[in-house]
Amino acid sequence: MFSFLSKDQTTGEVAERQLDEANIPAHVAIIMDGNGRWAQQRHLPRIAGHKQGMNTVKTVAKAASHLGVKVLTLYAFSTENWKRPTTEVNYLMKLPVDFFGTFVPDLIKNNIRVKVMGYTEDLPDATQKAVRDAIAATKDCTGMVLNFALNYGGRAEIVTAVQRLAQQVQAGTLDPTAIDEALLSQNLMTGDLGDLQDPDLLIRTSGEERLSNFMLWQVAYSEFVFMAQHWPDFDQTTLEEAIYQYQQRHRRFGGLTTA
Ligand code: IPE
Ligand code: IPE
Ligand code: MG
Repeated sequence: MFSFLSKDQTTGEVAERQLDEANIPAHVAIIMDGNGRWAQQRHLPRIAGHKQGMNTVKTVAKAASHLGVKVLTLYAFSTENWKRPTTEVNYLMKLPVDFFGTFVPDLIKNNIRVKVMGYTEDLPDATQKAVRDAIAATKDCTGMVLNFALNYGGRAEIVTAVQRLAQQVQAGTLDPTAIDEALLSQNLMTGDLGDLQDPDLLIRTSGEERLSNFMLWQVAYSEFVFMAQHWPDFDQTTLEEAIYQYQQRHRRFGGLTTA
């Protein structure tokens, strides 16, 4: 057990709460939302929110790793985010270059391994290189996996997996009756995470309560926690608060529980 000071999102009341160290969610996934609104509230351009959001990623990655989270998946850019103005898209494409350019030594110090899921081949060359270099630099880290969803879409991910299996069927190397949930899971972009591929806890910030095409297959039995804070205001305490809420839930997976 360890305690943290939690602040109620509506009343502002502060309370001391206990987290159960034995029940930390192994895979935490976060839809990092609200950068633009955070900036607008301060009369700043939207990209100022993305910049501040990048600093939050550094704080939260270290906090999650210290709490014992095994996989932290962060939704950084969706396959739909290309619809935004070019200047904003360009800025978002530059962020991984800045992020990894400054943060890789810290990641190594914290034994954190970088993974990326998404259609990275469609990213600008400099972004691809930043991602490749970070993966290579942290490949021997054995602690938390920091998994960035970059140009990621949940439906597209499933389509790609289905295409891959269909090709194997056509080539005569796969019997259609051998396609089961485990095989489809293995062919998703999280397949290399093995037992850890499904998030235990899914957090979305900034008050929106939707998935926006995030990990549609993998969240089948995840616990959802929606938080009012915009992503740039998220910090270690907000993460602990979300985990605290997770620890109050009773996961049944369709079965029965006495709790
Ligand atoms: C999340 O913040 C970051 C990305 C989607 C890249 P937004 O940019 O969506 O911020 P809001 O939702 O407009 O406030
Ligand atoms: C989801 O947020 C994508 C990321 C956080 C990267 P959006 O801001 O793009 O989602 P919508 O448009 O509000 O559904
Ligand atoms: Mg948004």
